[in-house]
Amino acid sequence: MITFSDRLHALPGYPLAEIPTIKRRLLAAGMDVIDLGAGDNDAPPPAVVVEAMNRALANPALSKYGFQQGLPAFRQAASRWVERRFGQHFDPMTETLPLIGSKEGLSHLPVAVINPGDIAIVPEPGYQAYLGGALLAGAEPYVVPLRPENGFLLELDALPAEVLRRARIVFVNYPNNPTAAVATREYLERTVAACRRHDILLAYDNAYCELTFDGYRAPSIFEVEGARDVAIEFFSLSKSYSMTGWRIGFAVGRAELIGALTRVKSYVDTGPFLAIQEAGIAALENSDAIVAPIRAELQRRRDAGVAALRAAGFTLDTPKAAMYLWVPLPEGVASGPFARRTLEETGALVMAGSGFGPAGEGFFRIALTVGPERITEAVGRIGGMLERMPRGALATAP
Ligand SMILES: Cc1ncc(COP(=O)(O)O)c(C=O)c1O
Repeated sequence: MITFSDRLHALPGYPLAEIPTIKRRLLAAGMDVIDLGAGDNDAPPPAVVVEAMNRALANPALSKYGFQQGLPAFRQAASRWVERRFGQHFDPMTETLPLIGSKEGLSHLPVAVINPGDIAIVPEPGYQAYLGGALLAGAEPYVVPLRPENGFLLELDALPAEVLRRARIVFVNYPNNPTAAVATREYLERTVAACRRHDILLAYDNAYCELTFDGYRAPSIFEVEGARDVAIEFFSLSKSYSMTGWRIGFAVGRAELIGALTRVKSYVDTGPFLAIQEAGIAALENSDAIVAPIRAELQRRRDAGVAALRAAGFTLDTPKAAMYLWVPLPEGVASGPFARRTLEETGALVMAGSGFGPAGEGFFRIALTVGPERITEAVGRIGGMLERMPRGALATAP
């Protein structure tokens, strides 16, 4: 009999795993499903990127193994983009690394720093690849609940001294998925200071840095002095350029840290498809022109969603960034049964807060993946369902 590892057993069910099956069943039954689940915008990939990809596919040299070095021109474009955007220079060949999506890099990084008995500090609710990567590397995860009263910030200084002593890595993500919280400069400074004090690798996930509203600008962790000693930063082309399925992102950091991740990756993958790296160059070089309309449309969707939710009786702040609304549920309503019933009864597909870990309970997440009218329609259906529901129908399970 094949038995499975403790690490495999330790992985919680992936939050989006069962949703496609339910959605398919409902669609087959003729239901008008409005999918606000995964953070996957309905906008097509930019024409300039598709054209670059078509040209790249005709070049047989780009069908070869990319290995970790990949296309030097992609590294250079990524490095130039970071410099343009944040005023920070990273050497393209030694301090920049192409990734098969930022998830791949984030989840492989713990292997480079974790020894038996080490702790990985993981925010909850949070992107599940942090917990998964930590568990697969054999780390002991230390889960930090992100609470509204703290602005959903992961405060290292509030953790027990013993945890900080044993921690080798912390995952920090602002603009945040799923809460849409953003970090102040002071927060980033105290987080870098704490990581330096305790020798903790700061994995800064900046997947949503381009999706900001009302003039807010999301910083790089490297704008904080001293961050290069302890941080590695992850960027994604998925959300900013509507390229989620293409699987392309990159990391920057000092050569020793990038080298460690490169070494891990050399044994598990052979780098992103070179043609996609070529197309990624087109995205990064045309970044301002591509991102401006995406950002403006997300802001319209955010405004429609917030207005509809407030009209339906929900209380929430207007987020400054990311592509999510993180919505508190009425007292005593459990998010899992709520999300399932919402989907089955109204066709509005939202994510249960508990899908991002137990600390996400009491909330649900709306991804701004369809136009304002459809978001308003979905929220209207959800509000109607809550109104019709007898009190206690979706109470937290005992
Ligand atoms: C916070 C966060 N980081 C990283 C990612 C992964 O992005 P990529 O498509 O680059 O792997 C996501 C995707 O949803 C995310 O929400």
